Amino acid sequence: MKQSIRHFLSLLDLSPQEFKLLIKRAISLKNNRDPNYQPLKGKVLAMIFEKSSTRTRISFETGMAYFGGNALFLSPRDTQLGRGEPLEDSARVISSMVDCIMLRTHQHNTVTTFANFSSVPVINGLTELLHPCQLLADMQTYFELRGDITNKTVAWVGDGNNMCHSYINAAKLLKFNLNICCPKEFQPNSEIVQSAAQLITFFDNPTTAAKNADLVVTDVWASMGQEDEQKQREIAFADFQVTAEVMNQAKPDALFMHCLPAHRGEEVSAEVIDGPQSVVFQEAENRLHAQKALLELLLK
Ligand code: CP
Ligand code: NVA
Repeated sequence: MKQSIRHFLSLLDLSPQEFKLLIKRAISLKNNRDPNYQPLKGKVLAMIFEKSSTRTRISFETGMAYFGGNALFLSPRDTQLGRGEPLEDSARVISSMVDCIMLRTHQHNTVTTFANFSSVPVINGLTELLHPCQLLADMQTYFELRGDITNKTVAWVGDGNNMCHSYINAAKLLKFNLNICCPKEFQPNSEIVQSAAQLITFFDNPTTAAKNADLVVTDVWASMGQEDEQKQREIAFADFQVTAEVMNQAKPDALFMHCLPAHRGEEVSAEVIDGPQSVVFQEAENRLHAQKALLELLLK
């Protein structure tokens, strides 16, 4: 294992200062697009997707292109990873030929193992536990529209999933208050909660959770890999939809975010996601700018 390699497996791989600098850098890259700035010329990013993706794939691939580098899309269907070649061997081989690896996979320990055996930086492009790249874009969007999020209140409504865990990590780094409202059987990981306990308040009703919030966030009821649980989850989460009534409890200038893809009529009403407080498309575009800032940090 090489200690000196800088990976991005969790937001907690950044210090609070680095997180804020990354957000500022992403905003600056967005506002000052310079086609001649190609800091990653000649660099190659391998992107391994064991799950579907629109935003993550396009933002990493175009981010590398804008920066003068290249990105390889590797699906397990077409590589020996899908036929059972050990992760450790795959990490050694792939990292011997590229400059950075992005991995979207199921279990979080797949990315940690991969990183342990990689000779280049590894980026977590989503696991069942965490989705740190999305938080770079979400926080960039909040900073662009409302300024610093420190001491503000974010309401998380829905599943205690990878996005919820990443919001907890973001709260810990940026020191915002987090109201969490999930069904009893779908609470977030208790160790992650414990690590930021003083910033978190639990609620069992979305309208109470959203009271005076500056930002309301949700995500799908059934994440990738949980498709078989869709019907059962629709019942469990029926009272956990972000509706206009929920948004009305938040501050009048509160924003609504969702990492997308969204299911209108499930975790969020069409009225909210397509309404004036929703910033989901700015949030999605910011995946590109935030990831360029991340690639620059890890690779330049
Ligand atoms: N939000 C997000 O990660 O989207 P994709 O699954 O399309 O990459
Ligand atoms: N929680 C969702 C996020 C998708 C970007 C999932 O893991 O499928």
